[in-house]
Amino acid sequence: MPNFITKTIAKPPLPFSSGRCDFLWEVNSKNSNYIFTRCEEEKFFIQIKGESPKVIVKGEKISRPSQVIFLQNALEEYAKKASCDIISSNITPASNRLKEKNPIIKEIDFFVQNFVFDKELLVEIGFGSGRHLLYQAKNNPDKLIIGIEIHKPSLEQVAKQCTILGLKNVVLIDYDSRIFMEFLRSNSISKIFIHFPVPWDKKPHRRVISPYFVNEALRVLKAGGTLELRTDSDEYYAYSLDVFMQNPRADVRIFKNFDLEISSKYEDRWKKLEKNIYDIVLTNTQLHTENSPLPKLSFDYLNNIDKIMRDFTPKLFRGEDFFVHFEEIHTAHDRAVIKTAFGAYERAEHLFIIIEDDKISYFPDRAYAVKANKKAHEIIKKWLNE
Ligand SMILES: C[S@@+](CC[C@H](N)C(=O)[O-])C[C@H]1O[C@@H](n2cnc3c(N)ncnc32)[C@H](O)[C@@H]1O
Repeated sequence: MPNFITKTIAKPPLPFSSGRCDFLWEVNSKNSNYIFTRCEEEKFFIQIKGESPKVIVKGEKISRPSQVIFLQNALEEYAKKASCDIISSNITPASNRLKEKNPIIKEIDFFVQNFVFDKELLVEIGFGSGRHLLYQAKNNPDKLIIGIEIHKPSLEQVAKQCTILGLKNVVLIDYDSRIFMEFLRSNSISKIFIHFPVPWDKKPHRRVISPYFVNEALRVLKAGGTLELRTDSDEYYAYSLDVFMQNPRADVRIFKNFDLEISSKYEDRWKKLEKNIYDIVLTNTQLHTENSPLPKLSFDYLNNIDKIMRDFTPKLFRGEDFFVHFEEIHTAHDRAVIKTAFGAYERAEHLFIIIEDDKISYFPDRAYAVKANKKAHEIIKKWLNE
């Protein structure tokens, strides 16, 4: 994270503008200050910690802009205006150009706002080195392949390969597939591939396959669409079959040691070790009720900011499948900023709740109403109004 350390700092009164950045307002806690900063379209916090002769000024993690250059520019401008006496720094950008992002990698907003369900869609979960995904993309130019992977280096590597191969029918996302399903429309997907998922024998709650996931997968599959699980793990095979069979209308086929057209890295390894490989194919037989795009979470009103400022203490609520953690508050006379983590245990949202002029909002504004978030949001609203 870009930062600098300075011996002295003469904080200029807010708001002020410098270069292409506006430094708008500030909130404080015992340990640090946040300065709300706007740089072109991006909004984020700069955090100031410590005292002279060692003050740390850095980009704040949760609100970090997608392009780090904005943060570097803002810190540079702030250092100038606050007459800082810098001891060490990593804010000088290597170049002043915006880094080109690979357009194949999408943010979650894309699947809500811009996504057109006009093509046949295939989904691959945990594509790893991407051999199977690339094979599907090359052989199905008229279909769109959505690849979901939580390992960033694999995501970037496969995006690069798509570019090199000129594949135009792939979109990739770094998201937990167990929650991502909620963003997909009912009856929209032809195939979901899950090849060699991590078996998590000691931590089964981390498995991709669960009764909830299977229900969501069946909902998003077209009638006749399939979920194809391929695994080398006896335990994962038995567990998944059991979960699939819990469905009252399970259409399940099982294959042992069948070759696919393409063999993944993991598969090559297991074949060398002469391990068994199992395929379980679950077919959706039903049409499901259509769903609308997921809305973002928002607040209506608030009337007790003074009480929140006075009484705030960190607090943790634990539900069965969701939680809310109010972590820390920063305040100014008419504003409170609460650092919060909430949502599903497997993929928490880390956001600020900004309370100002009887208005409340999440910042950054990226919390969608997936089930766990919705439950957490109800707790948050209740807590804020109590
Ligand atoms: C054992 S590797 C298999 C990779 C690839 N399918 C293959 O056959 O070579 C499992 C992959 O699933 C990814 N993964 C694990 N949990 C995930 C989740 N909840 N959502 C999306 N990807 C996940 C991991 O990062 C890893 O790349």
